[in-house]
Amino acid sequence: MLLERVLGAEAAYKLERRIEWRFKKSGLPERKTLEAFEWAFQPNLDKAFVMELGTLDFVRRKEDVVITGAWGTGKSHIIKALGLRACLQQMAVRYARGVDLVADLHAGLADATYPQRLRRWAVPDLLIIDDIGLGQVKQREDEPTAAHTLFNLIDRRHGHASTAFTSNIKLSAWGRYLGDATLAGAILDRVTMHAIRLDINGPSWRQHVANERAKKRGAKLPDDRPDPEVDAQP
Ligand SMILES: Nc1ncnc2c1ncn2[C@@H]1O[C@H](COP(=O)(O)OP(=O)(O)OP(=O)(O)O)[C@@H](O)[C@H]1O
Ligand SMILES: [Mg+2]
Repeated sequence: MLLERVLGAEAAYKLERRIEWRFKKSGLPERKTLEAFEWAFQPNLDKAFVMELGTLDFVRRKEDVVITGAWGTGKSHIIKALGLRACLQQMAVRYARGVDLVADLHAGLADATYPQRLRRWAVPDLLIIDDIGLGQVKQREDEPTAAHTLFNLIDRRHGHASTAFTSNIKLSAWGRYLGDATLAGAILDRVTMHAIRLDINGPSWRQHVANERAKKRGAKLPDDRPDPEVDAQP
């Protein structure tokens, strides 16, 4: 009985260690959870739909996910929470912001490590490319466009493993942002063909937190966010 308990504890410890290793390898910057998400704050968001994503069946089906929506609506929170759940389910996960992923691959062109780097991004069960549209995609004269680099990666993954994107720009604006409309179109053609789409149309949690703080101080902040460019098309 005692042995059983000890063995149980040891197995549990090993499992915990494996999950921790998965999380570290994933590059997820923080542990966001669906349990900590305030659903009431985002009433247009279908909780049941997101919880279904939380089962990670889409990863097993090798489907892609595209989450669009305005600033601060919880896109990154949800995608990071899905990433954490995938680690808990012992899946291989990698997370990067769009700009960092492209920069990593371009660094590989400079030091001839591109094939290894491409492989590392190509093989995980779930690749999360967060915040497409945020930050400037840097491109040197001798580098391909971000669209070209991402296309190479997505073309390898599509149908073999799941990729999840978040973006606060219209999908139609990806071409301009990634530097090549044709290749961005080719990415979207692959991704949107079977992708699960979620558009979060609602208020910004960051603005909400700022307003609450201001209220406490007795001041009121104006809503000075620029107009969000959200693609609500299916
Ligand atoms: N409904 C919510 N409940 C609890 N926390 C939330 C909620 N929505 C957002 N947050 C928190 O607000 C912060 C901003 O959210 P997040 O980064 O997910 O926004 P985003 O939609 O990705 O915005 P951006 O377009 O600027 O990338 C995060 O700390 C996140 O955890
Ligand atoms: Mg985000």
